[in-house]
Amino acid sequence: MDTNSDSNLLKALEAESWSLISDNALNRFQRSPHHALQMLIYLQAALGYIPPALQRQIARDLQLPITHIQGLVAFYFFLSAEKLGTYRIYISNNITDKMLDAATLTECLCQQLNVSLGCPREDEKVYIEQTSCIGLSDQGPSCLINGLSIPSLNEERIRQIVSLIESDTELSLWPKSLFETSDSIQRKGWLLDNTTSPGESLRQALKIGDEKSLALLEKSALRGRGGAGFPTAKKWRFCKGTPAEKHVVVCNADEGEPGTFKDRVLLRQHCDLILEGMTICARLIGAELGFIYLRAEYLNLLPDLEKTLQKWRDNNLLGQAILGNEGFNFDIEIHLGAGAYICGEESALIESLEGKRGIPRNRPPFPVSEGYLSYPTVVNNVETFAMAARIFGKEGDSFSQLGTEQSKGTKLLSISGDTPKPGIYEFPWGVTIQEIILASGAKNTYFVQVGGPAGELLDQSQFKRTLCYEDVATGGSFMIFNAERNPLEIILNFTQFFAHESCGFCTPCRVGTQLNHQLFEKISTQGAAPSDIEKLEELNLLMDRFSHCGLGKTASHIVKQGLAQFHKKLKPGDDNWSPDFDLDKSLSTARKLRIIDTGAN
Ligand SMILES: Cc1cc2nc3c(=O)[nH]c(=O)nc-3n(C[C@H](O)[C@H](O)[C@H](O)COP(=O)(O)O)c2cc1C
Ligand code: SF4
Repeated sequence: MDTNSDSNLLKALEAESWSLISDNALNRFQRSPHHALQMLIYLQAALGYIPPALQRQIARDLQLPITHIQGLVAFYFFLSAEKLGTYRIYISNNITDKMLDAATLTECLCQQLNVSLGCPREDEKVYIEQTSCIGLSDQGPSCLINGLSIPSLNEERIRQIVSLIESDTELSLWPKSLFETSDSIQRKGWLLDNTTSPGESLRQALKIGDEKSLALLEKSALRGRGGAGFPTAKKWRFCKGTPAEKHVVVCNADEGEPGTFKDRVLLRQHCDLILEGMTICARLIGAELGFIYLRAEYLNLLPDLEKTLQKWRDNNLLGQAILGNEGFNFDIEIHLGAGAYICGEESALIESLEGKRGIPRNRPPFPVSEGYLSYPTVVNNVETFAMAARIFGKEGDSFSQLGTEQSKGTKLLSISGDTPKPGIYEFPWGVTIQEIILASGAKNTYFVQVGGPAGELLDQSQFKRTLCYEDVATGGSFMIFNAERNPLEIILNFTQFFAHESCGFCTPCRVGTQLNHQLFEKISTQGAAPSDIEKLEELNLLMDRFSHCGLGKTASHIVKQGLAQFHKKLKPGDDNWSPDFDLDKSLSTARKLRIIDTGAN
């Protein structure tokens, strides 16, 4: 056979296997356009990429415009139209990974595998890239290999990975120990000490009835743990009160805030409580449909989550006529993300659940009145659902005896950075920053970053402040930095995070986050001229006022805080600097998406 017919045969075989795999994907996801993203995630996992021909086939089969499918592949970081490599490695580049010398290890990995960062190896075997925090700051540096996380990278592990790759060892045959993560719970409290057995809280809610259950939740004064602190009972009441054919419950397990990992541990250790919170919510608002939106980086949690869901169905805690109550029907489906921090924002998350790009919606209407497929939808954080369930369980009423006037109960913190005991800590709201630092065993602490890059940077003068909605609110990330750290480098890492994670939909954020990063890079490395500071302030005001969603509005806060607190660290710099900013390049993604949207050339 000549080379030409050889390659034709190969192409035909490849096309046949695509066709089989895509048929599988279509059947698995009931050929529903709302599952388009889930299908693409499945195909990406099966083939390592989603070739254009396959994108066209999926579009045809789902009767969607090809531009819709192309838009999804372009938008989500972990989807790719090109073959990148049989082994795709994404190294977490959170500041806490950097502090553990992730850069040297990455260089070492690249060298040993003879590959450059961001460029597929010629033989299409390996691809190495950096990615935002993967939720393992307690055991960094860490990476993902074909979606599965590997913690605690060191030289020995790097050698092991290189040898497994070069010997073409299938990922399923890699030693399990490489993928083992620990839950590192350092301090338990009201929630983590839970001894309620699965179904107990739900039975209690059913026993006292819907109205009394809502009143109980109201009395507890539980507020959402995802960051904004919206009263949970109020959210459920709004949703219940919106008449509609269907209501929906969504658990936000996108946990993308750099430095946080408490939802990861809850999903593994207290999955029953989360399902129970969702099911109680479904009962109270009258929902039959539920989703867990699980970030791509937590793929390794999926099999156990599916098993727990099945156990719940087997015990009639999910499904039809739950616990024998005619008309109480509810089930939960898990949807995976595909690498987009913005999908943690509730309206972007709903877009993503509907199989679209995760672009935040205009609000109002809020999800409680128009959410998933326009049905009234409750979106709550993982920890919120777990807490709600616990409130209906044994000693649930002790919840509101803890905390402060406006912040009842406890809060889970993910503590990382310069501490000998990184991990999960549960504290009652009202604890001081100093008390948290002490409990973590950290010494010589210079400053902390509470609530991720969009949160608060607190230096020693502020360690008496308290953790609560009245003072320092947080979604859970608590990163500790000692006096040897350069705060400018840390802030630079955060500006890079926002520039990478801006979804590109609106100009103030898309361009602003890039400029912010470049300008801050200039002043932190080459020195600051008065005009640089003016430019930064102007830019930050603009982003704050005109960005479409919370990401762009808060992306500049870290720079403002950093300049206020560490301006003495800045050297004087040249006034004639202009950004190495390529407007065309910055607009190219948006243009591509627009072309994709309109089908224009
Ligand atoms: C950019 C951005 C990212 C967010 N990421 C998350 C997230 O990963 N998890 C989460 O629960 N909430 C996240 N939120 C908040 C959600 O929009 C929403 O307020 C929350 O899920 C509501 O749940 P709660 O009331 O239980 O806090 C994010 C918000 C923004 C603006
Ligand atoms: S503010 Fe940023 S993340 Fe939000 S919609 Fe605009 S570009 Fe996207």
